[in-house]
Amino acid sequence: MSPSDSPDLTVDEAKARIAQLSAELRRHNRLYYEEDRPEISDAEYDALFRELQALERRFPDLVAPDSPTQSVGSRPAEKFDKYTHALPMLSLGNAMNVDELREFDQRVKRHLGMDEDADVRYVAELKFDGLAVELTYENRELVAGSTRGDGTVGELITPNLLTIDAIPRRLPDNAPDVIDLRGEVFMTKHDFAKLNERRDEEGEPTFVNPRNAAAGALRQLDASITAKRPLSIFLYGLGRAEGLDVDAHSELLKKLSSWKLSVNDKWRVCKNVDEAAAFYEEFLEGRRDLPYDIDGVVIKVDALRLQERLGVLSRTPRWATAVKFPAEQKTTVLNDIEIQVGRTGVLTPVAKLEPVFVGGVNVSNATLHNQDEIERLDVRVGDTVVVQRAGDVIPEIVEVVRDARPADTIPFSIVEAVGGKCPVCGSEIVRLEGEVAYRCTNIACPAQVVRGLIHFASKPAMNIDGLGDKLIRQVADKGLVGAPADLYRLTKDDWAGLERMADKSAQNVVDALDKSKDVALPKFLHALGIRHVGEATALALAREFGSLEKIRAASLEDLADVPDVGPIVAEAIRNFFDNPDNAKRVDDLLEVGVHPSWSSEPSEMPLAGRTFVLTGGLDAMSRPEAKDRLQKLGAKVAGSVSKKTNVVVAGEDAGSKLKKATELGIEVWDEETFLAKLKELSG
Ligand code: IVH
Repeated sequence: MSPSDSPDLTVDEAKARIAQLSAELRRHNRLYYEEDRPEISDAEYDALFRELQALERRFPDLVAPDSPTQSVGSRPAEKFDKYTHALPMLSLGNAMNVDELREFDQRVKRHLGMDEDADVRYVAELKFDGLAVELTYENRELVAGSTRGDGTVGELITPNLLTIDAIPRRLPDNAPDVIDLRGEVFMTKHDFAKLNERRDEEGEPTFVNPRNAAAGALRQLDASITAKRPLSIFLYGLGRAEGLDVDAHSELLKKLSSWKLSVNDKWRVCKNVDEAAAFYEEFLEGRRDLPYDIDGVVIKVDALRLQERLGVLSRTPRWATAVKFPAEQKTTVLNDIEIQVGRTGVLTPVAKLEPVFVGGVNVSNATLHNQDEIERLDVRVGDTVVVQRAGDVIPEIVEVVRDARPADTIPFSIVEAVGGKCPVCGSEIVRLEGEVAYRCTNIACPAQVVRGLIHFASKPAMNIDGLGDKLIRQVADKGLVGAPADLYRLTKDDWAGLERMADKSAQNVVDALDKSKDVALPKFLHALGIRHVGEATALALAREFGSLEKIRAASLEDLADVPDVGPIVAEAIRNFFDNPDNAKRVDDLLEVGVHPSWSSEPSEMPLAGRTFVLTGGLDAMSRPEAKDRLQKLGAKVAGSVSKKTNVVVAGEDAGSKLKKATELGIEVWDEETFLAKLKELSG
């Protein structure tokens, strides 16, 4: 029981508690909606929210017009233009379990004057754990894409949303003149894992869960950064829809699908609340097998006529409710915090846990991300902690059970734990301004060297067949290699001298190394392990400059001008080549015979190095399909026209992009030319 439930609560006490809860909720709204770094779980947020709601119900005079219960979410962040939704974007009331779902069903029937055991037809959908957005189409053209914001005013993020393949610029001819589509933008578990892997490799901090990663991606001022973080969308609702001929929510979903829009296929019509409850139970188990995160199901009254009669409360409709899943959480003991050193020298604290079974797997490690996270949680060795499989993907520590803290624990500091020195090589560690991470300053640190070599030899980099982690560790431990070029200087006998290495295998490694010398420029660039330069950026650099010499000589401005490279990445590249140790590493590689080369138009990629922009509608194929066809031929497909654009493909009703292309004198293909070229180039 919370203090607010006490029957003796005075008005003054209630006032004080309401003020406190409102302030806390506002802070958490800001952390969640504006800064993408929530500090409490959804369940904890819901508990605070419900306590405030309950108090306001008991003391209706104390409800402030700006109470968090009276508005949805939070104000839009300042950096984007604001967008006022034509109709407010509502939120959903919550049911925490099947009993509360049944209470919702009873309320619906009471409001409609129906018998308590009558059947109401519902649509059951999954509740996607992402960010609500609105897509506004006028005359079937996308004119605005926006976030929910506070429900009335959101942020205008059209270019960011256009990086999502499933969002078309144009609706089919039979769509209404004005329609606002609503849905949830999210990142799949697979894309999230890949993104974090890449960020880890590039020395960037990892995201805690797919939702935060998606939120961070959508809020990028620079849409080219959004484009590097693959997002998806499911549409599930409407704002305005002038002249749309549907009379049930289920029909709307079918109509959206018929327009080839992305609608999740798990929705189901339920003839009564029992079937809706069964849907909930089914996905309580089945959620783990889905390729994306859900945090519950949403139950909506199907008939639009009934929805209208039920109407809305200040922030939530009476005709729908979310039924939340309990979070998959367990408590366990934190035995130790280990500090690992990554390829870029970042020190990462890893929680060593007493193994615990949560979310279907045994968990014994969890990342603590960085010192800020450790301080936020105030987590200490010996603590009992709540572990959650965040988004069913990676385990995280949600909170410390304070009551269970042993008497002798002390706050954990990474610096103290490692005595201010890199735990691997003993060099100084630093925390650069504006960074959350501590780094080892020694680029010859064995942890960095070994991981750097493993990265160098890996498939997406130099692709040295048969040269895996174990061999690399052995030659590094023996002091035979300190830098990539040393690998090429080793003889067959050096390799044969390693543990369990037959002559033949030794020869294979030497041959594989030899073969790797002829390498494509993007792979070589990626192999160097320059901060922020992953496969995509390496490819963009190769396309733009064509040779290693030109990239090494490029100015900051030239680098920052490359599509997909912004000022931060440009600076990292410049810093890398300006550092004499790195310059020597690169020279050494060239000296041992590594030969990075780039031909911009290899025959199987006839459009390699060419940048296309698609605009207007095509009859023969959808825009994602056209994009895919072009990319398969090696082209880059950009979202906007610039002097770097080579060709603009202009379909029906092409607008401002066509105008700009004409102004800039860029080649324009109409649909007929486009199809003919595709045919010609695809052979
Ligand atoms: S319907 C008036 N359907 O959950 C109805 N929302 O907690 C408004 N959400 O703001 C939303 N999946 O961001 C709806 N299938 C679904 C949903 C869904 C996720 C999100 C949405 C909404 C929030 C409410």
